[in-house]
Amino acid sequence: MGNRISRHKKSKSSTSQSSLSNTARLPTKRENKSSLSSFNDRPSITRGESEREKLVEVLQTSRVIDGRVFQMANERYLIPCDDQEKNRLQMQHDLMKEIWKGNFSSPIHEKLKKGGIRVLDTGCGTGTWTLDMANKYPVSTFLGVDIIEMFPTNMRPPNAGFLQYNILNGLPFPNETFDFVYQRFLWAAFTQKQWIQLIDDFRRVTKTDGWIELMEFDVEIYNPGPIAKKLSDAVQKHLTSNGINPKIRSRIPKIMANTNNLESIQTLETITPLGNWRQTPQGIKALKDIAATLKSLQVALKAVLGVDNYEYKEMLEQFIIEGSKYRMYIKTFRFLARKQEYFD
Ligand SMILES: C[S@@+](CC[C@H](N)C(=O)[O-])C[C@H]1O[C@@H](n2cnc3c(N)ncnc32)[C@H](O)[C@@H]1O
Repeated sequence: MGNRISRHKKSKSSTSQSSLSNTARLPTKRENKSSLSSFNDRPSITRGESEREKLVEVLQTSRVIDGRVFQMANERYLIPCDDQEKNRLQMQHDLMKEIWKGNFSSPIHEKLKKGGIRVLDTGCGTGTWTLDMANKYPVSTFLGVDIIEMFPTNMRPPNAGFLQYNILNGLPFPNETFDFVYQRFLWAAFTQKQWIQLIDDFRRVTKTDGWIELMEFDVEIYNPGPIAKKLSDAVQKHLTSNGINPKIRSRIPKIMANTNNLESIQTLETITPLGNWRQTPQGIKALKDIAATLKSLQVALKAVLGVDNYEYKEMLEQFIIEGSKYRMYIKTFRFLARKQEYFD
């Protein structure tokens, strides 16, 4: 494991363990130990030891269902963490960057270019966004945090680091640490109560005049064909039965406003066709991405739909055909907010 960092001293406003206990189970011993693999300062351990350690860690923290690997640390989050999922996240990153014409919408490009600013990417997954940003802005510093280690533990630019940590345990950073806090596609991970706590924690660790940007999907297929409708309803049913509000995106601006410490709150929205009906290169990629997301959700959705693997595969094939036939599309959103000075 990498260097340990001590748990942060919680500020009055940070998320406390006891306040989470209604919605999240207690963290395991392992989750409480946050492992920081950052800025190329991992201690030297021999390759054999490190591989053994890694294997024990994988066995203790993951399970295999239908040939897909799932993490067990956030039990609500039922999307796999295997190579197939890593490829999907990479493809999705490229697609979102193309659709949105950039990695972020907050007005911080000049500051990032000038350098010396700190950026946090929570639920960073494979760390693709963190790495892309770190390469583009070599004189600013980037930290990606995820509950599982899908991010690279070596081969990263010197201004990028990663931390394995459950962000529901309260961000392990002092108040006003980051100039920019970014998070993308955590719609399947948190209850509404947890979103409220997290957004307040993002606010806490953001510096005055710094920006928070959350990018989300509203878990909706527009103009769905009959199979797409069944799949989309099943995703919503699955999330709801796990205590997750699939429509959280419509609540985010209000949750931001309710912190009483964020201003310039904006919602940006983009529409992306699924399939080739608008004859854009993104349409085919987006259809592939949503089909891959539905494939990642197969274990959960099969149970909701009462179908077997073969029937589910057939549904996905139909879903792909329906894209252009019904002129289906999706929406993605960016929520921006600036931290203002705090007056009690
Ligand atoms: C759909 S992926 C998105 C990854 C990345 N943000 C991106 O856009 O490529 C969601 C990520 O959230 C992580 N996650 C879920 N619950 C978490 C938690 N409680 N703390 C930290 N990360 C979490 C998952 O492990 C997964 O990597």
